[in-house]
Amino acid sequence: MRQAFRASILHCLADPGEGSLATAYAYFDDGVLVVEDGMVVELGEAAALLPQLGDAVALQEFPDKLIVPGFIDCHTHFPQLDIIASYGEKLLDWLNRYAYPAEARFADADYAREVADIFLDELLRNGTTTALVFGTVHPHSADAIFEAAEKRSMRLIAGKVLMDRNCPQELRDDPESAYADSKKLIERWHGKGRLGYAITPRFAITSTAAQLEAAGRLAKEYPDVWIHTHLAENTDEVGEVARQFPDSKSYLDVYDRYGLLRERSVFAHCLHMSDDDRSCMAEKGGAAAFCPTSNLFLGSGLFDLRSMRDAQVRCGLGTDVGGGTSLSLLRTAGEAYKVLHLQDQALPATRALYLATLGAAEALYLDDKIGNFAAGKEADFVVLDPSASVLTARRSNAAASVEEKLFALMMLADDRNVAATFIGGQLCS
Ligand code: GUN
Ligand code: ZN
Repeated sequence: MRQAFRASILHCLADPGEGSLATAYAYFDDGVLVVEDGMVVELGEAAALLPQLGDAVALQEFPDKLIVPGFIDCHTHFPQLDIIASYGEKLLDWLNRYAYPAEARFADADYAREVADIFLDELLRNGTTTALVFGTVHPHSADAIFEAAEKRSMRLIAGKVLMDRNCPQELRDDPESAYADSKKLIERWHGKGRLGYAITPRFAITSTAAQLEAAGRLAKEYPDVWIHTHLAENTDEVGEVARQFPDSKSYLDVYDRYGLLRERSVFAHCLHMSDDDRSCMAEKGGAAAFCPTSNLFLGSGLFDLRSMRDAQVRCGLGTDVGGGTSLSLLRTAGEAYKVLHLQDQALPATRALYLATLGAAEALYLDDKIGNFAAGKEADFVVLDPSASVLTARRSNAAASVEEKLFALMMLADDRNVAATFIGGQLCS
């Protein structure tokens, strides 16, 4: 069935950069998005498209609202939902005090399913239609999030965590079970509908060399699965990795040596790295998840987007809940602006939108399927309502352009401003 959605519509065609390059995005003040069987057919001005639509098309109109592509969260942890906003620690102590105990509760598969459902409903309420998600060490945590995503027809990538040292005993697997369990999960879920599997070693500190080697073997056997881990988030962490892997040139080099740096590798954080590392990451096709709320909350550091993009590293935004403090990619974009401002870097709203949509899709090698409204892509989108709160309504009325409106939403919006979220043209939140 053909559907059409009328609103103001904005999407990115490329990276608008620090100067908000006008040819890198397209805006239709009174636009129409035409969808058939869940896929984008056409996007254009209402005046041109409406007369051609014919009677068989179901038209939904959203006056004074803004449609943008569904947001893509490049790094988050569903098992950490209940410890979001936990006080006072930096990364390594925060893991011990909050994250590991929270993840230990996932030994209970019913609890894992309960949290997975709530987590995905929250993502959708915030306009996020695709995410790359950490589970826990328990294989059933991956089943839980995949089942929840399948019910919602969400495009989602996830994996069971690999960790066999430097963490509580009850959360440890071992190289053999990590390999065998991940393989079973890949066979069960990878490529099923819109789901994809990510081999998920937590970080170099919690995996033995034997486990990293097993993860690398799997990555080689399954070249189209993702690899998802953390990299260079915190200076104490970087020091510990250097002590544990004295033969490696850098933290990134640890992963590279075990075959874990390739296309579809996504590294959360990437704060404390050299230009050589950035070039190497770009050359091998790895991607970085920029997680500003987490980096500020855990006092980890400032992501250098300019250097990453100058080196041509693929970059997307990540919420990194529960180190991150919001599931909203609009809010995350607002914090990204501040992190970059502190470093004399610009983040115009159009580039922030890119990092939350097309840039993220490129980071995940999904830009042939999602990220903007090019014909043939999946029709996942968000309807933003600038008037949903008194403050955003006033600020939006004072805005002279869509760029200014979107920027104000980035700084001020909450889930009230997400009027609706559509997956494959179907209303889901
Ligand atoms: N590094 C290793 N594990 C984690 C985690 O759960 N959260 C964050 N922010 N960093 C990590
Ligand atoms: Zn994380």
